[in-house]
Amino acid sequence: MCGIIGYVGKQAAGPIVLEGLQRLNYRGYDSSGLAVLDHDGALAVMKRAGKLAELEASLTTPPAGRTGIGHTRWATHGAVSDGNAHPHLSSDGAAIVVHNGIVENYRALRERLAAAGVECRSETDSEVIPQLIGLYLREGHDFDEAFRRVLGEIEGGNAVVAMERRRPERLYAARLGNAGGIVLGVGGDEMFVASDVPALLPHTTLVQPLANGQWARIGAAETTIRDLDGAEVALAPQRVSMDPVAVAKGPYTHFMQKEIMEQPRALSDCIRGRAHVNPAGVSLEDVRLSDDQLRSLRRVLIVGMGTSMHAGMVGRYYMESLAGLPTDCDNASEFRYRAPLLGPETLVVAVTQSGETVDTLGAMAQVRDHWGAPRVAITNVEESEATRLAAGSAIYLRCGPEIGVASTKTFMASMAALYVLACRIGAARGHLRGATLERAIDALLTAPGIVDRTLAQAEICREVGRVCQDVEHMLYLGRGLQYPLAMEGALKCKEISYIHAEGYPAGEMKHGPIALIDRSMPVVALAPRDPLYDKMWSNIQQVQARDATVIAVGTEGDAELEAAADVFIPIPACDPLIAPFATAIPAQLIAYYLATARGADVDQPRHLAKTVTVE
Ligand code: AGP
Repeated sequence: MCGIIGYVGKQAAGPIVLEGLQRLNYRGYDSSGLAVLDHDGALAVMKRAGKLAELEASLTTPPAGRTGIGHTRWATHGAVSDGNAHPHLSSDGAAIVVHNGIVENYRALRERLAAAGVECRSETDSEVIPQLIGLYLREGHDFDEAFRRVLGEIEGGNAVVAMERRRPERLYAARLGNAGGIVLGVGGDEMFVASDVPALLPHTTLVQPLANGQWARIGAAETTIRDLDGAEVALAPQRVSMDPVAVAKGPYTHFMQKEIMEQPRALSDCIRGRAHVNPAGVSLEDVRLSDDQLRSLRRVLIVGMGTSMHAGMVGRYYMESLAGLPTDCDNASEFRYRAPLLGPETLVVAVTQSGETVDTLGAMAQVRDHWGAPRVAITNVEESEATRLAAGSAIYLRCGPEIGVASTKTFMASMAALYVLACRIGAARGHLRGATLERAIDALLTAPGIVDRTLAQAEICREVGRVCQDVEHMLYLGRGLQYPLAMEGALKCKEISYIHAEGYPAGEMKHGPIALIDRSMPVVALAPRDPLYDKMWSNIQQVQARDATVIAVGTEGDAELEAAADVFIPIPACDPLIAPFATAIPAQLIAYYLATARGADVDQPRHLAKTVTVE
């Protein structure tokens, strides 16, 4: 969850590290720090609790030196304080470390250090890493060996970047487990390392992620990558297609706003070349499953977390109706600790925009190791661990970087990717053919335009945000395909506006939640014209009978709903399978405008991080 950046080369490291931290600021942002090492071994370390601006304000002159590391923290062990911010150093300052993940055995390691006369100065688990490296250096090991030994001793998912005080011309980096990525960036005669690609983009698009269990000694002239057994791994960087301009906010106030507005393009990019009408069909070259394999499937299981799981819940409907297969969608953190029965006839689809969410990766590893079921990853990050765990069978979302902590465009694209995958499976199995396949593809191709037209309702959503900004609770209701959208609207509301919200299947409401409803509870009812419309209409009547303010999202021209609701947000008439793309827009925009009306920090909501790499 923390952000990591490192540089070694001929330029001044301080400004590069600081600029990298600005780009990584969406990962963790409760404190930050950097360390810069000069060629003569002079070391400058600065760290501050609070937003990155606190660190920037404390840097009157950038520290000198051509090697540096930086870190934005999302606290796990130890309070948010200057002392707990990274980098952490060994007591003698010989080893300087930034870390992402959790050293699960840190208590035992602290005791070992204490027995050797080394007292940790912070409350963090991370500090044991430099302290242990320092101990091994004092025992006479070189840094390579000390680093490697410590990697073998720390337990849990961990990503580590380190500097050696005595050898300022190099960095060390390692990835252990699924605590988040480590990506090497290859420049002319300089090297970069970061927790994810956007931090590298202004400098290089030539990148190589470290795989689980790999570590690297990184120098401007020479970089060596090894696995934990010492076997060398080739440095073979790939060019990534991410556009550095896409990482900028442009004319928008917030990244989330920008990312909501660019959803028609994100959807088109995701669908382009994959869904075509003439001849009707889909092309998914990156999904390396043959027609025979697809025909042998008996079941689909979709896993993900948060917004990605909500996309998966929509995907469940797509799989059932378009692929004709029984489908479940499960929360990855629950799935991975159960004992489900899977086999080669179950396709497991993992949805994760970052490709690095620890629970989703854990679920995929579980599937690979215990059941050998075929896997597909739906992700926005090429070369992510999710892709590797899916044995390269991936659908890339092609959204460009998503910086807002609240996922928006990747939600849209994930639904589209699931739709395309369902069509691919349905066509292979003969469930969709001829005119039905054509209709399904046609419907999907309308989605970008429908989203575009729905964005025109932003003003109504702004007004909802203004009027409802002081409420304490919101209820979101939907049925069928709109139930996951109700969950997603409530999640968005909670995470960025801090208003308590619940998303419920509308039919479930009268089994409990209806007791909460009164005049002070706005209810967002997602009620497009679909086969469950009449049922939804009854549920709206039931909440209205209890005085709730109803904000109805319905099909344009639905005069009856418009007249009945307190606020009516129209979406274009569309195929019910496509309606989630449209209703996602008011779900996102209401949360956005609630948050801005309340003065909340939309792009950096409290306690959250973009990529969740700890359990
Ligand atoms: C969504 O707004 C949240 N930021 C969060 O629920 C997110 O969707 C979840 O952490 C999963 O992330 P992933 O898609 O990167 O796996």
